[in-house]
Amino acid sequence: MKVLGIETSCDETAVAIVEDGKKVCSSIIASQVDIHKKFGGVVPELACRAHLELLCPIIEECLSGAGVNLSGIDGVAVTAGPGLVGALLIGISMAKALSFSLMRPLVGINHIEAHLYANFIEQEPVLPAIGLVVSGGHSALIYVKQVGEYELLGRTRDDAVGEAFDKVAKMLGLGYPGGPIIEKIAQKGNPEKIPFPRPYLPGSLDFSFSGLKTAVLYHIRKYGADNVEDIAAGFQSATIDVLVRKTLKTCEAMGVKTVLVAGGVARNTALRKRMEREAISKGLSLFQPSPELCTDNAVMVAGIGFVKLREGERSSLSLNASPNWMLGC
Ligand code: KG4
Ligand code: ZN
Repeated sequence: MKVLGIETSCDETAVAIVEDGKKVCSSIIASQVDIHKKFGGVVPELACRAHLELLCPIIEECLSGAGVNLSGIDGVAVTAGPGLVGALLIGISMAKALSFSLMRPLVGINHIEAHLYANFIEQEPVLPAIGLVVSGGHSALIYVKQVGEYELLGRTRDDAVGEAFDKVAKMLGLGYPGGPIIEKIAQKGNPEKIPFPRPYLPGSLDFSFSGLKTAVLYHIRKYGADNVEDIAAGFQSATIDVLVRKTLKTCEAMGVKTVLVAGGVARNTALRKRMEREAISKGLSLFQPSPELCTDNAVMVAGIGFVKLREGERSSLSLNASPNWMLGC
């Protein structure tokens, strides 16, 4: 079964065709970084306009990349939330039009669930698992009983991890998006030089990174940003400490042996390596998607879409955007 996936929840316009939830026939991602970087962050109205312009040509490109025409599509999956409402609506409207005109089933997908599913495209994790989703809009610890059955254990109270990376990069005048830039610069710094706080929030599985971000701001105000490498390395190391420790402690407390990491920040090599080292030392099986499946893409949407459609789940043509749709609440 070939599912066409559409992802327009934020600033990537992405379309993919995936067969049976695993085989990627074609995947196109049009980044809008050039549009937003001069503003230092995503401008929702500009993101909507760009999605509108890009979506049709990208669908055509994706079809020709997969060597199929529209009649070769068996189902349509689209991110319905969480995300920017206007941006989501562009993808949803297109998905509805395709579903209606082709007479193919439609399913609305939760973006966080799609991120987690990225781990099932290339591998077969044994469940239950603890999922750590770290993206530009979300930090969450999720108990994954099985694909489709989740319990939200902890979530971001303020800045999501990726958002903190982006804001710290902005403070340091490094540009947008901040995550990859901080990662690169941190490689040249000493992570122990500046002891930034580790916001563990004892007794809670929530995350809070705004205090850490403010600590970086105060440091810059007091000492300047000449040693940008050490600041980046210190910030990154504090963030990674919190993410890794909280995730592994949760596994231990719940007796879970599998860890799934997902979302844009899961591209971070220092985080990946540290997770790997610590998971191995604790005898856990760790899954981290290939880097291109960590940041926003439509392969993960088409993939989880296949699972839902196979199970008989359908969305009607009244499908609406759910900008605050949390998983497992
Ligand atoms: O999952 P994603 O593509 O979009 C959302 O769902 O938000 O995540 C984007 C976030 C951005 O904040 C970006 O700075 C961060 O992921 N990111 C990284 C890295 N690559 C992307 N953060 C840290 N290190 C990276 N290498
Ligand atoms: Zn995302």
